[in-house]
Amino acid sequence: TGAITLDPGYKNSGSCESKITFLDGEEGILRYRGYAIEELAEKASFLEVSYLLIFGELPTRAQLNQFEDDIRKYTLVNEEMKNIIDGFPKTAHPMGVLASLTSALTAFNPKSVDPHDDKEMYIAVCKTMAKFIVIATWTYRKSMGFPLNYYDNTKGYVENFMRLMFELPTGPYQSDKVIVEALDKLFILHADHEQNCSTSTVRIVGSSHAGLFASISAGVSALWGPLHGGANQAVLEMLEQINNDGGDVAKYVLKAKDKDDPFRLMGFGHRVYKNFDPRAKIIKKAADEVLAKLGVDDPLLDIAKQLEQVALEDDYFKSRNLYPNVDFYSGIIYRALGIPTEMFTVMFAIGRLPGWIAQWKEMRINKEPIGRPRQVYTGYALRPFVPVDQR
Ligand code: CMC
Repeated sequence: TGAITLDPGYKNSGSCESKITFLDGEEGILRYRGYAIEELAEKASFLEVSYLLIFGELPTRAQLNQFEDDIRKYTLVNEEMKNIIDGFPKTAHPMGVLASLTSALTAFNPKSVDPHDDKEMYIAVCKTMAKFIVIATWTYRKSMGFPLNYYDNTKGYVENFMRLMFELPTGPYQSDKVIVEALDKLFILHADHEQNCSTSTVRIVGSSHAGLFASISAGVSALWGPLHGGANQAVLEMLEQINNDGGDVAKYVLKAKDKDDPFRLMGFGHRVYKNFDPRAKIIKKAADEVLAKLGVDDPLLDIAKQLEQVALEDDYFKSRNLYPNVDFYSGIIYRALGIPTEMFTVMFAIGRLPGWIAQWKEMRINKEPIGRPRQVYTGYALRPFVPVDQR
């Protein structure tokens, strides 16, 4: 078998070839299928970007309309799924519920998709995009004790997200252009990020030829952790804590530098970006714009900016190339849109879904072998068994 190269955390190992997302960590470049993230965030819609990631090209107007219509065909979620939701306590974290519900979808869609059959794959894509956004919002409605809501086929995908979340039986939800545009941008910025932890999880689960829903459910669980997508919730909780503690950002920068203190500056640092995270640049600007347009004055935005400034001037952060990442400012926008903190990582999951699908599809089309890393064994050499009474 030859010598095994150890690379914990796969810091320097490529796991696959991919044509989906290009990332240059030194230069702060991110492109989906060759298109700059800055341009996509400014000019495209989330469904256009989803189509681009999954099928490789930007859709024509007709293809985009068709895609949106085809997603609508599958937005009804099996009624029995409601019994599953009812089994969860109201206090359950929405990410845990989302992972379980995504997994439960396998029971209602038992036939596993053949990725080599274009038509079957297309239907599976539409089905996944349709059902995921509905069950994602149900996790919130359940926690609030609201009746579950259904997709409105006369409205767009992102607009439906807000309706699905916030519409109450007392009256229709009035959608707001500023909110829909902000969400569209946030979803686009989260849509793919090459071989990150959750995407690698989706690929490795799928590499055993497990189905799409099962693989995505695993991706949701991977995303939940605070070092990955869960950072957006952790950032906001950190900013709230600093605010309640008198707003002394320097104190928290000191804490983050202290190696005896497990505290890290959440929303800071990245495995690949070593100069800046291009998504964070766009989100910071968007946070300013959205809060101004909505007339929201949030002290947490000022704290975030101060924290960023103090950290960026600090030798500890400078020498380790630690910059704000995508999760640093996103939560402030979500908060301004009325999204509860526990739902932030679910927002990330909705955005990342097309990336997971695209990567799963590419992995299967490329006929990649099962993912099965090796190890270096450091345990005991052979030991004789000692019967229980003699130990
Ligand atoms: N605060 C304080 N110190 C940090 C931080 C931080 N946020 N991030 C890294 N460091 C230090 C770390 O202690 C280490 O120091 P030393 O060399 O003295 O041991 C050095 O910087 C390198 O860090 P690392 O943990 O070896 O780097 P990594 O590539 O394994 O981890 C990371 C990357 C993103 C997990 C890490 O930077 C981190 O924990 N950040 C905070 C959580 C966060 O914001 N995650 C979101 C990531 S971006 C989007 C996403 O994936 O969801």
